Amino acid sequence: MRLLILGGTTEASALARNVVGWAELEPILSLAGRTQNPIEPPIPLRSGGFGGVDGLKTYLTDEKIDVVVDATHPFAAQMSAHAAQVCCELNLPLALFTRAAWRYVSGDRWLPVADMIAAANALGHAPRRVFLTVGGLQLAAFADAPQHYYLVRTIDPPDAVAALPDHRLILARGPFAVDDEIALMRDEGIDVLVTKNSGGKATAAKLAAARTLGIEVIMVERPKSGDVLAFEKLDAVMKWILDHRPAP
Ligand SMILES: NC(=O)c1ccc[n+]([C@@H]2O[C@H](COP(=O)([O-])OP(=O)(O)OC[C@H]3O[C@@H](n4cnc5c(N)ncnc54)[C@H](OP(=O)(O)O)[C@@H]3O)[C@@H](O)[C@H]2O)c1
Repeated sequence: MRLLILGGTTEASALARNVVGWAELEPILSLAGRTQNPIEPPIPLRSGGFGGVDGLKTYLTDEKIDVVVDATHPFAAQMSAHAAQVCCELNLPLALFTRAAWRYVSGDRWLPVADMIAAANALGHAPRRVFLTVGGLQLAAFADAPQHYYLVRTIDPPDAVAALPDHRLILARGPFAVDDEIALMRDEGIDVLVTKNSGGKATAAKLAAARTLGIEVIMVERPKSGDVLAFEKLDAVMKWILDHRPAP
């Protein structure tokens, strides 16, 4: 059975490791090709966009894919929408494998917003010292709020960072420790954190640090994921995959 895993996340990498060794499975991991040095997966890899809905349809048909697991990031809305549309049209089984969203706990000072433009607006008019941890793709939204100082942390060098007149860029990949996050926010005099609700443990320490320091968090909520069957646990998505194997 040919399985396509749409990846770019730790969940997809974990699933790729887990499907190794099943004789009945022929898995392929697909990456968008954005990360400069992706960790080599233990299963065949393809890289780069499919070419929209039509390209994905052609790929799934030509490669005779039987089952698709969308393990892209919760904010990779376009890829997920394309997968949902094309799998529906081709009548292919599709499941989401995603991490649970972060949840508000007592002591948090979260301001939920719908998207990046709303996050930039929520910073207000008065200059602030902002810890910006929203990835590199949507920094442009903050160019319209140039009065703030931005401490920008991304994995790869972002294109749009130059549009922020007052910024410092840190390139780093999680996991991060709470004590280090507290020290960083203190040293930089941060008074507001902006993040997407990505979920997961690797980058959750900033939320605990903000709670400890009483810092406001502007939390960009997840885009809606439609009505695709979703799993948050590896063993559950594995069972779903194995249940789709053809009867011997
Ligand atoms: N958005 C985030 O915050 C975030 C964070 C961490 C990791 N990632 C990962 O980075 C990648 C790109 O994210 P994004 O937000 O740019 O996604 P997106 O907006 O949903 O997708 C944009 C386009 O990139 C291509 N693409 C995305 N994921 C792909 C995959 N796994 N395999 C092949 N092509 C893919 C598709 O191109 P075509 O239309 O040409 O097929 C898609 O239409 C994803 O794999 C995602 O899991 C995203």
